[in-house]
Amino acid sequence: MVCLGNICRSPMAAAVLDNLARQQGADVAVSSAGTADYHVGEGPNPMSHRVWSDAGYRYDHTARQFTAAMFDEADLVLVMDESNASNVLRLARHDIDVAKVRYLRSYDPDLAHIDPSGPQRGALVVPDPWGRPRAEFEAVLAMIERSVDGLLASLAET
Ligand code: 4NP
Repeated sequence: MVCLGNICRSPMAAAVLDNLARQQGADVAVSSAGTADYHVGEGPNPMSHRVWSDAGYRYDHTARQFTAAMFDEADLVLVMDESNASNVLRLARHDIDVAKVRYLRSYDPDLAHIDPSGPQRGALVVPDPWGRPRAEFEAVLAMIERSVDGLLASLAET
């Protein structure tokens, strides 16, 4: 899971995937990173942490920056927005890396039909809630939960 700061969206997405995968007995190794180094070594954003904890997810997190070597550790590099996508794609070394990059929300069954390079691509964005009110973090959690459900369903089919 990749976002910008690795303190709000991607740790929340990692928390949801880690917890739901374990509940479903799916063998999924989860990690997250940010494309920026602003918050490396810090814990999660307090509001993000509160929202995912209140929803029942348990997850320890320390922020780190995305590096090209992380492509080798991942089958999927799931990004939250267009800037995350272009930042990780800039670090891609070959087509195998490029093929791992997807919008997390492309796994939401209601959004799966959207072309990530087409005119509707904005609908695939998990918006940045940093510094915004709790309701925006809750909206992000709902987007993440729908997407992670779809991701786990698609992994179960493979
Ligand atoms: P995130 O949110 O990318 O969801 O972790 C942000 C966190 C920090 C900053 C921007 C977005 N920042 O500019 O420090």
